[in-house]
Amino acid sequence: MTERHSPRVVPLIDQRSASHHTPAAAFSPDTRIAANGLLSDTLGRPLRDLRISVTDRCNFRCNYCMPKEIFDKDYKYLPHSDLLSFEEITRIAKVFVAHGVQKIRLTGGEPLLRKNIELLIEQLSALRTLEGQPLDLTLTTNGSLLARKARALKAAGLQRVTVSLDGLDDAVFRSMNDVDFPVTDVLAGIEAAQEAGLGPIKINMVVKRGTNAHEILPMARRFKGSGMVLRLIEYMDVGATNGWRMNEVMPSAEVVQLIHAELPLVQLEPANPGETAQRWGYADASGQHDAAAGEIGVISSVTQAFCSDCNRARLSTEGKLFLCLFAAQGYDLRSILRNENADAADLASAIGHIWQGRTDRYSELRSAMAADTGTGIRRVEMSYIGG
Ligand code: GTP
Ligand code: 5AD
Ligand code: SF4
Ligand code: SF4
Repeated sequence: MTERHSPRVVPLIDQRSASHHTPAAAFSPDTRIAANGLLSDTLGRPLRDLRISVTDRCNFRCNYCMPKEIFDKDYKYLPHSDLLSFEEITRIAKVFVAHGVQKIRLTGGEPLLRKNIELLIEQLSALRTLEGQPLDLTLTTNGSLLARKARALKAAGLQRVTVSLDGLDDAVFRSMNDVDFPVTDVLAGIEAAQEAGLGPIKINMVVKRGTNAHEILPMARRFKGSGMVLRLIEYMDVGATNGWRMNEVMPSAEVVQLIHAELPLVQLEPANPGETAQRWGYADASGQHDAAAGEIGVISSVTQAFCSDCNRARLSTEGKLFLCLFAAQGYDLRSILRNENADAADLASAIGHIWQGRTDRYSELRSAMAADTGTGIRRVEMSYIGG
């Protein structure tokens, strides 16, 4: 057996237990940082997007995220007492918003598995940005519970959803979620979300060469002109358990070429600074973007890193702040939240110091290395800090 190439090497250290210390300067009167929206990290990147993981559990076992062999019945998920409560999440979100966050995305695991998630959405939807605007409040889901929950989510104040869907062919879909979940149920969930007004809906498809690349064109045909935005994501080397290989990555350039050959595309300008996806619009007969036909997005974190303006922070289920999707450790904010002598200003100063010290740019570093080697950095699982 070639140990180095075994995709099932179990990580020996549980990365969830380790954490960085918040710099002591955060709590010293002379060096406190107040939240004023002007924060930037060592590379000049502001803080605008907060992704909050509300559970580390999921009812799917997508091979690229929670492979069955690792996430089995013996896997130790976080105990309930470790999770941030909704009150704690809202308290901390408020501080992030005071620092300039404009978008909050709820993730998991599967966020709709968290009991009474609508109550959290209600609390978060009451927050206002520094400019007095409602937040861009969204959620990433596998869609399995969406048919049941879409209306309640909308009523609670959720603005939009992003649904993961890796193919339309039932056999392909069932094998990718690895729990034999039928594609029709997710499609019904997407329809329910559209009817509930949770748009513009984005459809996230992780492309794995040799597994679902033949589903790209059927997906493009299906979502063209639907008002939904299909996004094709390069399979990433997140976590330590998915047995990632460069030869299973289909570069976005190839994806665009494939679609363009049948459904002509034109490149569009970014909608927001620092966004993950490059936008391509469907072209009309004269080669102009046909707005009614809509657009696709390609997310190329492997072949074209987008760290240079990354404004995303991630809060894990148990309240650790991660500065990068590929970070090995987070900063424990829960201990500050649960310290009765600490207040919102302490949290703001802690977040300020942590973000100011941020140097992370994993994907850029990774691209600078030979294919298939990785940076040697041990990473947390995506199901723990969320996409
Ligand atoms: P919108 O605001 O709807 O455009 O969402 P988004 O693109 O910011 O977020 P989403 O969670 O839908 O991101 C899509 C996918 O891009 C994720 O599932 C990840 O695979 C990948 N992704 C998101 N954020 C990052 C990031 O900061 N770094 C890297 N390398 N990949 C990311
Ligand atoms: N590569 C790319 N995207 C991933 N996701 C999870 N694991 C990976 C991976 N290895 C993203 C997918 C999914 C979301 C929940 O997380 O976009 O839709
Ligand atoms: Fe669950 Fe989403 Fe991960 Fe699939 S990608 S296992 S649906 S959290
Ligand atoms: Fe941001 Fe890290 Fe992703 Fe780069 S790899 S875009 S720094 S989260």
